[in-house]
Amino acid sequence: MFRIKHISLFQFRNYHQSHFDLTERIAAICGPNGSGKTNLLDAIHFLCFTKGYFNKTDAQSVEQGTAGFNITGQFETKGTALPVSVILRENNKKELWVEKEMVTPFSNHIGKLPLVFIAPDDIILITGASEERRRNMDTILSQTDHEYLVQLIRYNKCLLDRNKYLKNLDGSMPDEILLDGFDDQLAKSGIILLKKRISFLEGFLPKVKELYAYISSEKEEISLFPSFSTLPENYLQDLHRNRSRDIYLQRTAIGIHKDDIEVTMKANPFKQMASQGQKKSLLFAIKLAEFEWLKQYFGFPPILLLDDIFEKLDQERLLKLLDWVGVKNDGQVIMTDTHASRIKACLDEISLPYQLITT
Ligand SMILES: Nc1ncnc2c1ncn2[C@@H]1O[C@H](COP(=O)(O)OP(=O)(O)OP(=O)(O)O)[C@@H](O)[C@H]1O
Ligand SMILES: [Mg+2]
Repeated sequence: MFRIKHISLFQFRNYHQSHFDLTERIAAICGPNGSGKTNLLDAIHFLCFTKGYFNKTDAQSVEQGTAGFNITGQFETKGTALPVSVILRENNKKELWVEKEMVTPFSNHIGKLPLVFIAPDDIILITGASEERRRNMDTILSQTDHEYLVQLIRYNKCLLDRNKYLKNLDGSMPDEILLDGFDDQLAKSGIILLKKRISFLEGFLPKVKELYAYISSEKEEISLFPSFSTLPENYLQDLHRNRSRDIYLQRTAIGIHKDDIEVTMKANPFKQMASQGQKKSLLFAIKLAEFEWLKQYFGFPPILLLDDIFEKLDQERLLKLLDWVGVKNDGQVIMTDTHASRIKACLDEISLPYQLITT
């Protein structure tokens, strides 16, 4: 059993000082627009990942007119209490405390508290650029494979340095020995990451396909396959072979930062072919596969945060989701909606105890 039981917020966005007890496994957070529902979910994300789910800087999360914030959560794993705090000091330095010990680096904490977040804008995972799909894949893998996260940090740092170097060259003679050094490091981390992605996607993509069929009750089959710019065995040669082009383009065109997942329906790109509802179903299938993946790895279900549930799902699909996570699994679900009556009607259909929290 893995739960968050209590959360305290201090100077976090619209919360000056607030406390919430999560007494039931299923919690519905209700309140009008702008009342802090998403902020409360994001605070839980902070505790699990040391950062928010949305692209906001830490400074933007401090209550306006104040300095610093404190988010403290009481988790419970296998019957043991686990207090976690994320503190932003007045000088903008962030600290993570777990069981009264300060944790550094933060990457050591990733994967300790598994979480799946579904927010309205997540549809960009389907419709958006490849970067979104890589980010999602990285989030999953970083939670289950610490080495993946370590290599990813290394890779991204090296890629940034190499690209900066290429940009600054601006027509002058490149230092081939320096570039060899960049390429060796990129290939070293890149090969490890690529191998891990290949083996992850081999298990993950069939799961997504299967869940898509379950959710959408579609007759239309979809196909999902990875798209890589190189393979582990060719990685370094491909970097070398592409060097003059990279110098010309002033960026690195080969590597795992180009990976993508392609989806087709009736041999056409899913993005262009699918209806709104089908896109939502696919998003939902990916997130459920993520949930399943984490559950299998950890041996218990991750916490599921569902923001603005009716924005994304009709009642039928929502009931399927709740049945999956709430009835078939004993995971904690925290969801938000503007209308208490609507969420109540839905939760009353599945006979599970739940709690209403008003913001
Ligand atoms: N740094 C901050 N300081 C003070 N208030 C903030 C800060 N950042 C965001 N807010 C406020 O938080 C509110 C938004 O909260 P949130 O997004 O959680 O609302 P919500 O309940 O999810 O609304 P909706 O139903 O529209 O999604 C806004 O009123 C915004 O002004
Ligand atoms: Mg919101």
